[in-house]
Amino acid sequence: MAPMTRTRADAAGVVGELTVRYYVQRASAGLIVTEATNISAEAQGYPMTPGIWSEAQVEAWKKVTSAVHAVGGAIVMQLWHTGRIGHSDVRGGRLPVAPSAIAIAGQQHFTPTGPKPYEVPRALTTDEVRATVEDYARAAVNAKAAGFDGVELHGAFGYLPHAFLVDGANQRTDAYGGSIENRARFVLEVMERLVGVWGEGRVGIRLSPTLAYNGMVDSDPLATFSYLIERLNALPLAYLHLMRATPDAARFPTWPRDTVATFGPLFRGNLIVNGAFDRESAEAMVASGAAQAVSFGAPFVSNPDLVRRFAEGAPLAPADPNTYYRGGAQGYADYPALHADEREPARGYWLVQATVTDPAAFGRYTAVAGPLIATYGGRVLARGDVAEVVEGSVPRRPCLIEFPSYAVARACYHYAGYQDAVALRAGAAHFDIVVVEGMAP
Ligand SMILES: Cc1cc2nc3c(=O)[nH]c(=O)nc-3n(C[C@H](O)[C@H](O)[C@H](O)COP(=O)(O)O)c2cc1C
Repeated sequence: MAPMTRTRADAAGVVGELTVRYYVQRASAGLIVTEATNISAEAQGYPMTPGIWSEAQVEAWKKVTSAVHAVGGAIVMQLWHTGRIGHSDVRGGRLPVAPSAIAIAGQQHFTPTGPKPYEVPRALTTDEVRATVEDYARAAVNAKAAGFDGVELHGAFGYLPHAFLVDGANQRTDAYGGSIENRARFVLEVMERLVGVWGEGRVGIRLSPTLAYNGMVDSDPLATFSYLIERLNALPLAYLHLMRATPDAARFPTWPRDTVATFGPLFRGNLIVNGAFDRESAEAMVASGAAQAVSFGAPFVSNPDLVRRFAEGAPLAPADPNTYYRGGAQGYADYPALHADEREPARGYWLVQATVTDPAAFGRYTAVAGPLIATYGGRVLARGDVAEVVEGSVPRRPCLIEFPSYAVARACYHYAGYQDAVALRAGAAHFDIVVVEGMAP
């Protein structure tokens, strides 16, 4: 699953319950790359995007990773610094920062008060560039603490690392600008630090060498990105995530036309390619040996079970682009899986939380947030008679739920975060495992 910004974090960059559900629903992807995640407050360019610099953010991401792992998925975090693609309106009045004080021309930023022209960013000092490398390293440490399987540097689409690479945006005269070697220095230093934190096979990088969007115009992308990829080969990376795009022939007659064929063979590790693939073209790409994997973006927005749909040759549901970045539940975690009806019995129930205080009932009931149970593959086997009405909440009833495994039950329980018990029905007529808050299993 390709990284996709969904702007569902809160104002402090902390992801919530919906985000856990959203990723768990898509865990069958095999490998999820998270939405781009700000490495620092300074890195932020859009409202409601998540971060990985504060303790609260790390704690919130832990719920995502443990839940995805519990259902057998793997998830890496995409590390983000928006660079000049931000706006002072969403940065507490501070100008965006960039390699050089050059604004993105001919495009607008979608600020909370409507589209506005991009501002001339403030050029980072050499010391600030070095400090930003450290911000990436700290974010990598935090991502590890949050339980991710690895990290991916967002080196594409014009964000800070990309802006360092291209001479149209980087006209520095220090060690981070000028020659190709100097322009690649920032990305390589960041990658070295990420590998230093994570070790072998855990760090990826996303590049879009032929995408001119966001003012990413280089006089010689072939030379620039060939050099970078050659140097990346010296690092024990998990993968290179290459975004394909066909540049406008009239504007860029000298640019390579086929991104994958041009840059793919230069990389000696695993290559993931991306960009407007469907099942057939993706299978052909992998079968040809030109790439080891293909990632899908938009299809995963509206098809949480994309892998199963591909396997069954089932039709894909269309995504609604109006809800990509709108916030809220709609168009986020509410796209149904094809076989959602199989799990229908567990949907929509809120369960009592008081049962653990009654020793006689202890272990007979579970208490977790009902709508999530289906997400975790849980099945309601029986419901109690007594509805408990909690002020300001919907009535809840004790329920007996079967989960696919202990780990899944535990993840669901963790996610619900109640001071309750989760009982897992592992045997025929009794509970083998009961989990209580604060108690070792
Ligand atoms: C809603 C949305 C948000 C995206 N956000 C990101 C992002 O945060 N980081 C990134 O590298 N790419 C982002 N992309 C690009 C996708 O990862 C992917 O490259 C693109 O959608 C093309 O792949 P597809 O044709 O399979 O959708 C986003 C795409 C979409 C549709």
